[in-house]
Amino acid sequence: MTSALEPYYPTSQILSEIDSTIAKHDDLVSFMGLMQKCGVDLLPIKWQPALADLGRGGSANVSQALINTQTNYAFKRVFFTDGGTEKSFERLVKEVSILSHPELRNHDSMIQLEAYCCEILEKPERISPVLIFATAPLGDLQSFMLSEEARSLSSNVKLGFCLDIARALSALHGLYILHGDIKPMNALVYEQNGKLSVKLADLGDASICSNEESIVYLPRSRPWFAPEYHHRGFRFLQAKKMDVYSFGLLCFWLLLGNSLLHRSQGSASVDPGLPFTIAALETLKQSNTLQDTAKEFLVGVKDLTLEQQRSLFSLFDLTLAKDPEARPSDFVLILKLLGNDR
Ligand SMILES: Nc1ncnc2c1ncn2[C@@H]1O[C@H](COP(=O)(O)OP(=O)(O)O)[C@@H](O)[C@H]1O
Ligand SMILES: [Mg+2]
Repeated sequence: MTSALEPYYPTSQILSEIDSTIAKHDDLVSFMGLMQKCGVDLLPIKWQPALADLGRGGSANVSQALINTQTNYAFKRVFFTDGGTEKSFERLVKEVSILSHPELRNHDSMIQLEAYCCEILEKPERISPVLIFATAPLGDLQSFMLSEEARSLSSNVKLGFCLDIARALSALHGLYILHGDIKPMNALVYEQNGKLSVKLADLGDASICSNEESIVYLPRSRPWFAPEYHHRGFRFLQAKKMDVYSFGLLCFWLLLGNSLLHRSQGSASVDPGLPFTIAALETLKQSNTLQDTAKEFLVGVKDLTLEQQRSLFSLFDLTLAKDPEARPSDFVLILKLLGNDR
């Protein structure tokens, strides 16, 4: 639902300047100006508090409203704390600026921003913008893959999910944008004409860079973060490889989660604070045995061809390399290994 006016959109050059101008957008009027520029409409609608929230992440609650039988909207309500207003606006500005980019706003594998509305908060007293998205009927990838429904998914469907995320990341990196928080909770599952697909979401932790040398700061989501993580800044070139590692781990979890479940059941060493397969993944990461285990598991996946198994050996070898020097910094080969050109 974009504005009828031809939107003036920040081009990639202007996108690269947004980081430095974010501070100017920590008030509602500036935010509304940005939305006007990006061609995103303000809608006089609200979520329905009686409906259960769709999810909750580190920065927002996602509520919903059933508009009619075909339309169900998700309302991303970013948390505002007394001292954190600037940070919350920064997240909103980034998410809007990135999702409105002409190369991303209609990208099949990126979540689409539909519109925005406003929420009147009491504590802290303020009016806060709320982002409106179409609701992903099957939820996020983590809850979907842990559901009964996903148990019998074929490897080809799972490979399709990996390809969707790789395409989205490739598009982002091509625009000097780093996602920064690749994990199953930040990918949403859709179904159209019986075909399942995944879209990448949550650009709140993304970084907009101007070149390979730009410095970015990353969040640390367990166990998805790359082994070289630290709290200081990374150059964009290095940080892209961290998105690649998290992507590799996500592919491992998606494609080999069932093997992980069989192998680790009853094991006392996995952390009970995480969903089972994710905790088992963390254990493998800590013992630096991800690549060897991937090889062992892949041989046992009966619905993969020999060629697919070989390609996936290479994919895990490359993406899960502990040494970032051995990891690719772009998605050209990764897309090929996932069968993008087939
Ligand atoms: N459009 C949507 N449809 C269904 N669920 C959603 C949608 N957007 C977000 N969610 C749920 O809300 C959670 C938090 O949203 P997210 O954008 O990741 O915010 P945060 O920055 O707080 O992590 C997601 O992990 C997912 O479970
Ligand atoms: Mg999230």
